Amino acid sequence: MRRHNIAAIPADGIGPEVIAAGLQALEELSRRDGGFELSVTTFDWSSERYKRTGSLMPDDGLEQLRQFDAIFFGAVGAPDVPDHLTLWGLRLPICQGFDQYANVRPTKILPGVSSPLAGVGPGDLDWVIVRENSEGEYSGHGGRAHKGLPEEVGTEVAIFTRVGVTRIMRYAFSLAQARPRKLLTVVTKSNAQRHGMVMWDEIAAEVAIEFPDVAWDKMLVDAMTVRMVKNPKSLDTIVATNLHADILSDLAGALAGSLGVAPTGNIDPQRRYPSMFEPIHGSAFDITGKGIANPVATFWTAAQLLEHLGEKPAADRLMRAVEKVCGDGILTPDVGGSASTQQVTDAVCEAIRGSNI
Ligand code: NAI
Ligand code: MG
Repeated sequence: MRRHNIAAIPADGIGPEVIAAGLQALEELSRRDGGFELSVTTFDWSSERYKRTGSLMPDDGLEQLRQFDAIFFGAVGAPDVPDHLTLWGLRLPICQGFDQYANVRPTKILPGVSSPLAGVGPGDLDWVIVRENSEGEYSGHGGRAHKGLPEEVGTEVAIFTRVGVTRIMRYAFSLAQARPRKLLTVVTKSNAQRHGMVMWDEIAAEVAIEFPDVAWDKMLVDAMTVRMVKNPKSLDTIVATNLHADILSDLAGALAGSLGVAPTGNIDPQRRYPSMFEPIHGSAFDITGKGIANPVATFWTAAQLLEHLGEKPAADRLMRAVEKVCGDGILTPDVGGSASTQQVTDAVCEAIRGSNI
């Protein structure tokens, strides 16, 4: 029996609701497969903990997480705690502390879910966005001087290193190579940002030589938003900086029907540390506690988690079940249905049990 140790951090808002749904599906998959079991440890690290103790996670938080095979994360953010405190207090220390430098964000239109784009259906939009997750615009460099005075200065410095850019390019090219279309689009802003972004372009061209069978092209990030909307079929694998890919992947989620279906893996490709899997969405205060959060993004990221742990048949089984349930019209309100989180989750578990393959 293969055994995988999972750290669950449901955290804030709808995080606990979708993580509960994801764990129910993972349990079902483990029973159905029979070859692996999951040992799940849940941590209460959250904005609630911050309000109680002054920190979102304990000082030795990373040490505690290090022994796990993967981290299953909900969402962090509360209406009464500033967002930069919550993000830098929990999610970013884990991503950066464990050097999860590849943020992998698949997007496609699921059966039964409609895109806001006219005439675009399943098969017309099937992308993976690879986001550089360790440096760039979110490296935390910068500061403020003369705080509160009229002459106050704030700087936010984007850091690009040859090591950082080369490793994310290699990751993106090999992911593109592993997909049927072998097509990569490198996103930059090297017209206006003439230092780091020009280096980014140069490194893309160098790494491309190692992958002669991958067709690649280059887009400026502003033009990329237009192409995503006007010609989604022309794209397959996409690589961009921390900030650019953060923005583009929200757009991708919306174009695929809802943020509630968009997953993400924060991956350390060298497997020195546990990788972390989470839905892209945040705490969604407007629907917290209503029982209608869409669990599909969390199921999809659970499939990424299983694949990362070497459980590909279970990952595929989960995605088949999700596609069946969506195709049958069992959908939460954000994608036009009237089902609850629990009803969708039960239907997915039923589909996992009911399938012969
Ligand atoms: P959000 O993703 O929480 O919500 C945006 C909109 O999408 C809302 O209308 C929400 O109801 C809807 N939505 C999101 N997930 C959904 C789901 N599973 N099912 C149905 N509808 C869903 O983004 P927002 O409102 O900008 O941020 C709220 C809080 O979450 C903030 O504190 C923010 O900092 C935090 N946040 C945390 C993230 C993380 O933990 N990785 C990512 C994004 C935001
Ligand atoms: Mg975002």
